[in-house]
Amino acid sequence: MYNSQLWKTFWNFIVHHYDGEKEDLVKINVPKSKSLEAACLALDVGYRHVDTAYAYQVEEEIGQAIQSKIKAGVVKREDLFITTKLWCGCFRPELVKPALEKSLKNLQLDYVDLYLIHYPVPMKPGDNESPLDENGKFLLDTVDFCDTWERLEECKDAGLVKSIGVSNFNHRQLERILNKPGLKYKPVCNQVECHLYLNQSKLLDYCESKDIVLVAYGALGTQRYKEWVDQNSPVLLNDPVLCDVAKKNKRSPALIALRYLIQRGIVPLAQSFKGNEMRENLQVFGFQLSPEDMKTLDGLNKNFRYLPAEFLVDHPEYPFVEEY
Ligand SMILES: NC(=O)c1ccc[n+]([C@@H]2O[C@H](COP(=O)([O-])OP(=O)(O)OC[C@H]3O[C@@H](n4cnc5c(N)ncnc54)[C@H](OP(=O)(O)O)[C@@H]3O)[C@@H](O)[C@H]2O)c1
Repeated sequence: MYNSQLWKTFWNFIVHHYDGEKEDLVKINVPKSKSLEAACLALDVGYRHVDTAYAYQVEEEIGQAIQSKIKAGVVKREDLFITTKLWCGCFRPELVKPALEKSLKNLQLDYVDLYLIHYPVPMKPGDNESPLDENGKFLLDTVDFCDTWERLEECKDAGLVKSIGVSNFNHRQLERILNKPGLKYKPVCNQVECHLYLNQSKLLDYCESKDIVLVAYGALGTQRYKEWVDQNSPVLLNDPVLCDVAKKNKRSPALIALRYLIQRGIVPLAQSFKGNEMRENLQVFGFQLSPEDMKTLDGLNKNFRYLPAEFLVDHPEYPFVEEY
């Protein structure tokens, strides 16, 4: 049984990867060796919650890091909370279990703790994670994610995954799963972009009312990769109000940005390749923000999205047209 309180006490490290030979959606300028190194370092410094995805193309390195740290006695499998995600090209019901099995093989695991539908938007299946038409537009598909969900339920029953959830779903899309006839398991979480500039208060209220945990990505203002993020967008950690609250509390802006989410009952993900930042981010459990500071930070919300996933915008299930 999924235990959200327990999960909230875990922390997270995430590693993205760049495959220098492949032109694709997840092209990010990070060599695989750096991802492996960062994953090992994160386990060494105490991280136990890993958020990855098939689309990040780094599951193999995560698997290598986990196995080496288990062998070295640094961690036990049962101490880890491993999340991975079903890519949009594998929504057709017959593709779901094989996709999870592929991720498990990459990760060298018998099960993952959490498996998420990465986006509510299906893409055409195929070898390429980002199938394009002759005009360079993504080839989108018409599978109903409720049918995909049923296969995730079967994967849970088969013991391949402990809990199942979604990512980037708006409240109407969550509602469709919750109202699906014959629903066996509710999504345990919805992982969405959430930070001081996009505080997701309405989606959070909705999720809380349904006992769904909101997991925040982009909590530190994202990695600002130029392929994904408008380089003119404001740098979250440089925000003057955030910096004032940080100074007052004698903590870094990053710690304040993470603590703000935790105090609202949100599970923040925090990505870093640097040991000093990883160690610093673990200190988020060691202090509290006053109600006054929380109110000041609430005031920074401007419903600003760093990662609008424009590559999916033509699909009727594109999630970010809804207010929440
Ligand atoms: N479900 C989805 O669709 C989705 C989408 C995006 C992301 N995610 C998940 O969420 C994770 C995190 O989101 P994100 O990658 O967008 O980035 P993020 O966690 O918001 O920000 C990462 C950036 O913050 C910096 N940073 C970390 N700790 C810091 C500190 N203590 N002080 C100053 N800077 C610090 C990192 O710098 P360095 O790199 O220099 O260390 C990195 O550039 C991802 O890795 C992924 O697992 C999910």
